[in-house]
Amino acid sequence: MHNYANSCKLTIWVPNFINSHAISGLASLVLLNLNRCGICDEGCEKLEGLVKLKVLNLGFNHITDACLVHLRELINLECLNLDSCKIGDEGLLHLKGLLQLRSLELSDTAVGSNGLRHLSGLRNLHSMNLSFTVITDIGLKKIAGMNSLRSLNLDNRQITDNGLAALTTLTGLTHLDLFGARITDAGTNCLRCFKGLRSLELCGGLITDAGVKNIKDLKDLTLLNLSQNGNLTDKTLEIISGLTALVSLNLSSSRVSNAGLHHLRPLQNLRSLSLDSCKVTACEIKKLQLAALPNLVSVRPE
Ligand SMILES: *[C@@H]1O[C@H](CO)[C@@H](O)[C@H](O)[C@H]1NC(C)=O
Ligand SMILES: *[C@@H]1O[C@H](CO)[C@@H](O)[C@H](O)[C@H]1NC(C)=O
Ligand SMILES: *[C@@H]1O[C@H](CO)[C@@H](O)[C@H](O)[C@H]1NC(C)=O
Ligand SMILES: *[C@@H]1O[C@H](CO)[C@@H](O)[C@H](O)[C@H]1NC(C)=O
Repeated sequence: MHNYANSCKLTIWVPNFINSHAISGLASLVLLNLNRCGICDEGCEKLEGLVKLKVLNLGFNHITDACLVHLRELINLECLNLDSCKIGDEGLLHLKGLLQLRSLELSDTAVGSNGLRHLSGLRNLHSMNLSFTVITDIGLKKIAGMNSLRSLNLDNRQITDNGLAALTTLTGLTHLDLFGARITDAGTNCLRCFKGLRSLELCGGLITDAGVKNIKDLKDLTLLNLSQNGNLTDKTLEIISGLTALVSLNLSSSRVSNAGLHHLRPLQNLRSLSLDSCKVTACEIKKLQLAALPNLVSVRPE
């Protein structure tokens, strides 16, 4: 038996001076933030009555799938945060009917491919964070029909080119985080489908200049993180020089050098440039900043 002592029990604290009328008023709560409150399953039944809730943050608590049963009736929920909770596939069954959900945070949980089938009917979901879960490529097929998705976090070593290929139906994506995913140059072909992409993180180490060619037509990109791809060269800077909407660019830990910096001159909207652990000196970046990129306010190395 776990013993989380009293910290574990969910008690909705109401000051003494508030009368019973006000207490019943809790049923009209719209937002409840219980992040890092030390809650476990005992007491979760108290959430059942909060049927007006639109935003519920249960991140970083000890709750398991057994707690999620009590969320079934919270059909007005639009944002649910379960970051780093002890939940897995079975628990997601109870979220199936939460059809108003727009944002679902499941990162750092034991959620895997099987659980995703319970979410495929959430037709309003705009944002889903599946980073650091145990989801694999197979699981991604189950979310291929969720074309309301705009933002998807999949910072996850198990995800490969095959998983990305399953997502090409999600043509409305504007934010795609594949930070640690094992995407290769071959997989970057799939990125062409996401024409409205504004933010892309692809840092698994397997991309070369050839793969970057598949990114060059994503003209809406404002944030691009290709750091930790140790084989990217100055050629990459040349290829992305047409992405003039870019505001943040990160090519840290690559082979980019001082010689390539001039390719960045057309990027007039650039505010943040990160080239740590490259063959680039602070002095040369400073020169570029002064001569051509007046909006650049954050540079690494500095
Ligand atoms: C997704 O989860 C990761 C890991 O917890 C976190 O770093 C990131 O900020 C989250 N992203 C969003 C959009 O919530
Ligand atoms: C990166 O370059 C190294 C050394 O040239 C090579 O062994 C490796 O296969 C390259 N990686 C990729 C993903 O092409
Ligand atoms: C990747 O780089 C971008 C742009 O600098 C930055 O906003 C983002 O936080 C970085 N991602 C991670 C996981 O560090
Ligand atoms: C660039 O990305 C790395 C991860 O590879 C991250 O640690 C760093 O903070 C990012 N730089 C900026 C300025 O966001």
